[in-house]
Amino acid sequence: MCGIVGYIGEKPASPFLIEGLTKLEYRGYDSAGIAVYNDGNIRIEKSVGRLSSLVEKIDGEPLKGCLGIGHTRWATHGRPSDLNAHPHTDCSGDFVVVHNGIIENYLSLKEELIEKGHQFHSETDTEVVAHLLEDVYDGDFEEAVYSVLSRIEGSYSLVFMSKKHPDVLICAKKENPLVVGLGDGENFIASDIPAIINKTRRTFILGDGEIAIVKRDSVAIKNRRGVPIEKKVFTVNWNAEAAEKGGYEHFMLKEIHEQPKAVKDTMRERIKKDGSGVLLGELGWTSKFLGSFNKVYIVACGTAYHAGLVGKFYIEKLARILVEVDVASEFRYRNPIVDKNTLVIVVSQSGETSDTLAALKESKRLGAKTLALTNVVGSSIAREADQVLYTWAGPEIAVASTKAYTTQLILFFMLALYMAEIKNTLQPARVKELISLLKKVPAQISETLTDVEPIKTFAKRYGFNEDVFYIGRSLDYDVALEGSLKLKEVSYIHAEAYASGELKHGTLALIVEGVPVIALATQKSVYEKTLSNIKEVKARDAVVIGIAAEGDEELSKYADHVIHVPETDELLIPLLTVVPLQLLAYYAAITRGCDVDKPRNLAKSVTVE
Ligand code: AGP
Repeated sequence: MCGIVGYIGEKPASPFLIEGLTKLEYRGYDSAGIAVYNDGNIRIEKSVGRLSSLVEKIDGEPLKGCLGIGHTRWATHGRPSDLNAHPHTDCSGDFVVVHNGIIENYLSLKEELIEKGHQFHSETDTEVVAHLLEDVYDGDFEEAVYSVLSRIEGSYSLVFMSKKHPDVLICAKKENPLVVGLGDGENFIASDIPAIINKTRRTFILGDGEIAIVKRDSVAIKNRRGVPIEKKVFTVNWNAEAAEKGGYEHFMLKEIHEQPKAVKDTMRERIKKDGSGVLLGELGWTSKFLGSFNKVYIVACGTAYHAGLVGKFYIEKLARILVEVDVASEFRYRNPIVDKNTLVIVVSQSGETSDTLAALKESKRLGAKTLALTNVVGSSIAREADQVLYTWAGPEIAVASTKAYTTQLILFFMLALYMAEIKNTLQPARVKELISLLKKVPAQISETLTDVEPIKTFAKRYGFNEDVFYIGRSLDYDVALEGSLKLKEVSYIHAEAYASGELKHGTLALIVEGVPVIALATQKSVYEKTLSNIKEVKARDAVVIGIAAEGDEELSKYADHVIHVPETDELLIPLLTVVPLQLLAYYAAITRGCDVDKPRNLAKSVTVE
């Protein structure tokens, strides 16, 4: 995610651009920039780091002019730097663009433009758009934009500005949000409503494929062929704080609901067009080298560790390589058996967790090759590791990690498929089948999010229990661990997860009448055993909330309640079963009046030991 703003009117543009970007920093904050037109020229100022670095940079020399655009970045292509910060221009400086999203075919377009003599300065996908505009422009700005949009593939919200046409800003929207704020003698553009809510509450919320031709006293909405579209004005009735959360009450709920898009974005560009395999070209290792490791260690903390447990299952099951998983705070002091034939994968949403960073450095000291799975481009862990694979979940603000977890699972699944192909451990038909199912996951997560009422009811009914147990076997156990952590950290309920086969070795002593037990039962190979464990706890009068795949009619014979998730391969079902557990934790925290986004004693990124 990134934050975009634009202004056209009679007042100086710069104050709104900076104020608007401040309101959008939750969308990305690794670098920022603004461009303002004045007297035939466009001045661009940009800076790596938080928005405050840009403000400092232009302090004392405000940009003059009443037409401008701005951007606060969450890097996907190209590390955070002054050069990679937006806005980006063409060779001549006549055209300036800001972008949120991913241009999937930017490499082929860049090669084509370089052959035509275009000079590039950044590593970003966005800069290609500015040069493409220069390349096709023949005097008609709007037509040139349509031509550009017909060439680029991927997701985008774009704002174009030109010193040849200082009376207009042109916006285009596809899969990433963009709104136009309607003023009096002035108009505003932003990725999200918080940036404009103090200026106007009358907006056009652009739809996919829609273009806005924004002048100071008019806004025309058209489709990508230039055909005008009748658009209704949307009047915003949120307060500013609610707007930052996209209308959700908390960032945690917003980020739970962002998972379909986060998962889709993380898959983007990484699946072969014919569905026959995955593309992890960003891994700078040859297949031969990646195939040479005889052992994998996965090291992480908290939720990232839980994702690592699922990653172990995937890599062992699909690529048949031995995998060990360890929490970073243990691994770093364990004198682990690691050598040049070991691949150590560290997982970290923030890329700054000190235990994980220390484990990474220890691994390198011991001679291992290291790969980081992280959500923050240019983070300490991203820079320290030999190779990096990014989740593209966008900033995760809530302390409780949700969309980071599901995108980590997706990345692990694709990595396991990639390694399986190298090791030749899967039939091509099985690879195609798994990829076809993988592509359906975003929609299935959306489906899982449609009916939250039963979960709200459970949260109200059991939210004041002081003990809750989660049980499962195989991958269900790994998800149970994540579900129990979610409940613990946001609702302060003492929740514990157990491999359900372990109950009789002690925990069963704690199962008394009325204690809630969340039982995950999706893994066919151990389904009957899980049912037996559910009967064990029911025999002690526990209340069982079952989590099952659609079509499972058996579980409801033993569980008090059952939540079904869409049917899919049992390898992929953790991406679905975790969602009701995230929602259960969220609504239990609401029931108990907890500070959901900032739970007591916890920090979003644990940068101390
Ligand atoms: C998870 O909800 C917690 N916020 C916490 O366990 C977190 O996963 C852990 O601190 C690791 O953070 P990281 O992914 O940024 O390294």
